[in-house]
Amino acid sequence: MTFTSTRYEFEDKRADYASLAQELAALLSGERDFIANAANTAALIYEALPQVNWAGFYFLKAGELVVGPFQGKPACVRIALGAGVCGTAAAERRTLVVPDVHAFPGHIACDAASRSEIVIPLLSGSLLLGVLDIDSPRPARFDAADAAGLGELARLFVAASAGSGAPAA
Ligand code: SME
Repeated sequence: MTFTSTRYEFEDKRADYASLAQELAALLSGERDFIANAANTAALIYEALPQVNWAGFYFLKAGELVVGPFQGKPACVRIALGAGVCGTAAAERRTLVVPDVHAFPGHIACDAASRSEIVIPLLSGSLLLGVLDIDSPRPARFDAADAAGLGELARLFVAASAGSGAPAA
């Protein structure tokens, strides 16, 4: 299979996220394996989004977040619920847009180049599966349009994959 993701300028974030959502739906179509779909979702986001230095997943396992498929520098493996940006988004089950990671209490620095971050909880109904985490070297890289667009990509990933090898919390 050859898959070439479209290059986006993200000047019209709404339109470009809508196109990216179509690409992701096609990429996940016909495959339900949770890890395989997580790996391709992370790769697509990392390839498509400008000014991103880390994109990937942490999954909830035995009450803590454990790193899953990602693109970027090697990352810290385990994050407690409530710790850092990821653990806070997971514990509060809400998307966190952090314009300046140095100003976020308890931020966990995996790549020293990261300046801003967005974390989206993965919910299958009321079940928390983990989070989608994306970092940028640019301050204030993410806004409400990114939260909406990436939230839709996370929703597509969960819908395509939940229950098929999803880590048991
Ligand atoms: N910065 C995150 C840790 C994960 S890395 O960015 C990949 C946090 O504070 O939770």
